[in-house]
Amino acid sequence: MKLGSLTAALIVISISTSWAASSEPIQPIPAASVKNKAKMELGKKLFFDPRLSKSGFISCNSCHNLSMGGTDNLQTSIGDHWQQGPINSPTVLNSSMNLAQFWDGRAKDLKEQAGGPIANPGEMAFTHELAVDVLRSIPQYRAEFKRVFGSDDVKIDMVTEAIAAFEETLVTPDSRFDKWLKGDRKALNNTELAGYRLFKDAGCVACHNGTAVGGGSFQKMGLHADYKTASKAEGRIAVTGKDADRMNFKVPILRNVELTYPYFHDGAAWTLEEAVDTMGRLQLGRNFSKDEIGKIVAFLKTLTGTQPDFKLPILPPSTDKTPRPRPFQ
Ligand code: HEC
Ligand code: HEC
Repeated sequence: MKLGSLTAALIVISISTSWAASSEPIQPIPAASVKNKAKMELGKKLFFDPRLSKSGFISCNSCHNLSMGGTDNLQTSIGDHWQQGPINSPTVLNSSMNLAQFWDGRAKDLKEQAGGPIANPGEMAFTHELAVDVLRSIPQYRAEFKRVFGSDDVKIDMVTEAIAAFEETLVTPDSRFDKWLKGDRKALNNTELAGYRLFKDAGCVACHNGTAVGGGSFQKMGLHADYKTASKAEGRIAVTGKDADRMNFKVPILRNVELTYPYFHDGAAWTLEEAVDTMGRLQLGRNFSKDEIGKIVAFLKTLTGTQPDFKLPILPPSTDKTPRPRPFQ
């Protein structure tokens, strides 16, 4: 009798917690908290400033366009001199929630990451020294660095720290799915809800979970069958040198996935239907029906949140001392 009522009590607890948002494998995105407004504003300018590139034409926003979900919507990015990039550009939205940055996780955080593209010959093709020279030649920038860092002796470290502070604010709360998580049962329709159940029951949440619905681990692409691709990227092995890490990629964030096509590190899948079908077969050994794929895609589209909304920054003009852009050299 006693045992029976204990079991009953346990059942009641498990039923009630299964309805509580806290027991879901996905958590809502909290609103952005700005720790240092002046630093964030400086970082915003730098994010949009093409003078950090050799050509004077390519900014972070060129490949992480904040009007297009923080990506370029290209299979692989275009760099300096119209170079064909080797890999798809991931979104900068919610990227502060990643366990590490880049598909292979070679940068530990946003600050470390931000130094990469400026000096990457295939991206902005500049050097950190030249980028710093540009900023030092512009009095308004010097004044702003002094206000934020207490010194107008601009260093690349300050540049990357400011950009990271801006990127930390690029979060997308209040998606319909988050409203549902917070208790608004009308926020999702039946198809979307069925898609979410399938996403959980089929096992997608084993890898795509947490606040960002991904970004929390490195996983092998092609668990049940090899992933066929023309791309030379082999993922995490580039960082660890371990054979076991071949084709291990950072699990992408699925927040705003409706906006961040094409999909996968090689940008080979142009539609969500194709990406979900591939995931089912390669990661779960499961052939989804058209109807099931439709439901999962309907759910994925509820992950589109409120996009960062701000005034386009006005950049201070170059001076006589500013190194000239060299787009054709
Ligand atoms: C020419 C296009 C291009 C430019 C310019 C560019 N990026 Fe990227 N970005 C990429 C690509 C491609 C990747 C993925 C590279 C990889 O994983 O090997 C990437 C990766 C990232 C990531 C990691 C996201 C993740 O989920 O791992 C962040 C953050 C980022 N870039 C921010 C920036 C910032 C800040 C700038 C400006 C300083 C910048 N990018 C300039 C193309 C670009
Ligand atoms: C074993 C871990 C794992 C499982 C299970 C898994 N995924 Fe993935 N998912 C990944 C990895 C890793 C990638 C990146 C692969 C690549 O780019 O080569 C990815 C990529 C994706 C992408 C493309 C995102 C982008 O921005 O490029 C989508 C969409 C996706 N998964 C949805 C799903 C769905 C839906 C399921 C369930 C049917 C699922 N995944 C199951 C690990 C997993």
